[in-house]
Amino acid sequence: MKAVVSRVAGGPETLTFEDVAEPVAGPGEVVVAMRACALNFFDTLITVDRYQFKPERPFSPGGEIAGVVESIGPGVDGVAPGDRVIAYLKWGGAREKVAVAAADLVPMPDALDFVTASALCVTYGTAIHGLADRGEVKPGDTVAVLGAAGGAGQAAVEISKLLGARVIACASGVEKLAFCRSIGADEVVDYEAEDLKRRLKDLTGGRGVDVVYDTVGDRFADPAVRATAWRGRYLVVGFAAGEIPKIPLNLLLLKGCDLRGVFWGDHVVREPAAFAGEMRRIMDAVVEGRLRPHVQATRPLAETPAAIAEIAARRVKGKLVVTAG
Ligand SMILES: NC(=O)c1ccc[n+]([C@@H]2O[C@H](COP(=O)([O-])OP(=O)(O)OC[C@H]3O[C@@H](n4cnc5c(N)ncnc54)[C@H](OP(=O)(O)O)[C@@H]3O)[C@@H](O)[C@H]2O)c1
Repeated sequence: MKAVVSRVAGGPETLTFEDVAEPVAGPGEVVVAMRACALNFFDTLITVDRYQFKPERPFSPGGEIAGVVESIGPGVDGVAPGDRVIAYLKWGGAREKVAVAAADLVPMPDALDFVTASALCVTYGTAIHGLADRGEVKPGDTVAVLGAAGGAGQAAVEISKLLGARVIACASGVEKLAFCRSIGADEVVDYEAEDLKRRLKDLTGGRGVDVVYDTVGDRFADPAVRATAWRGRYLVVGFAAGEIPKIPLNLLLLKGCDLRGVFWGDHVVREPAAFAGEMRRIMDAVVEGRLRPHVQATRPLAETPAAIAEIAARRVKGKLVVTAG
């Protein structure tokens, strides 16, 4: 079978597309024939050893898949060949077949297609955990989403609207801002061209925003904290712009506000029942048309390196998905 493989640390150009041995389902595992594998920003980091997980080489990138169960290992109950499933893998999805722990499978509703289903776990999962659980967003709150046109950001815009919030989408460039409006943002700010703190204050009548969902970090974090309202919640989600920011603690004192970390990958492991409920809520909303995940393009599996390069170059709105089968 074919796989995209990282054999040496480096950018997308170091990835190879090669024949590898087919996986065999061990105890408690199933083999899933991958139909769609959604890519994320962390795929740009994991191959250069700059991500929180550093898998042993050789490994495949690709952290989330949708596919069909092909075979089951000893001790697996309640899953059968032919079942359509979704799985969050951390890495290893960019290959035609993947061995997955049966406990990590999420059943996929018939009404979903594989491409859409593959792109729900990481970004929508993080958004619902981050905004509803950690951020305690309630109807009438104002939420500022930083990096709003990216995968995590797009999901956060949509989930914020689902929770009844007013959304200020912050991104760069006319095209990305238009995209943010098209997915439901009430207001938009170009944080590369405008004063982020001033615009967020102006758009809230000087009060500040109730919640910041920050996927970019770096130089955007400080003005976003300064634009947080009394008792606001600033959610630390990611650092796509590079530097991990340092925030002066006096800002928290003056605003009675919170900085709250969002670590969806650990939430999944530590709070599996909550994760299962969140996935059902997300999938129901997609099936009913209340969430509309945006996949900018699908590519054949062999083009995974080019797709990862596009994400690194900041050229993607929503998600890129690679397909097999
Ligand atoms: N905490 C968690 O559990 C969790 C879960 C999922 C993702 N994340 C993190 O969230 C961040 C975003 O992930 P994603 O998959 O949504 O990425 P993405 O689709 O690539 O989006 C990132 C956005 O960041 C903006 N950006 C600003 N400066 C950038 C730069 N120098 N390079 C690249 N992008 C830049 C880009 O928008 P503009 O061009 O409009 O600025 C881009 O749309 C990552 O750091 C990821 O690791 C965290």
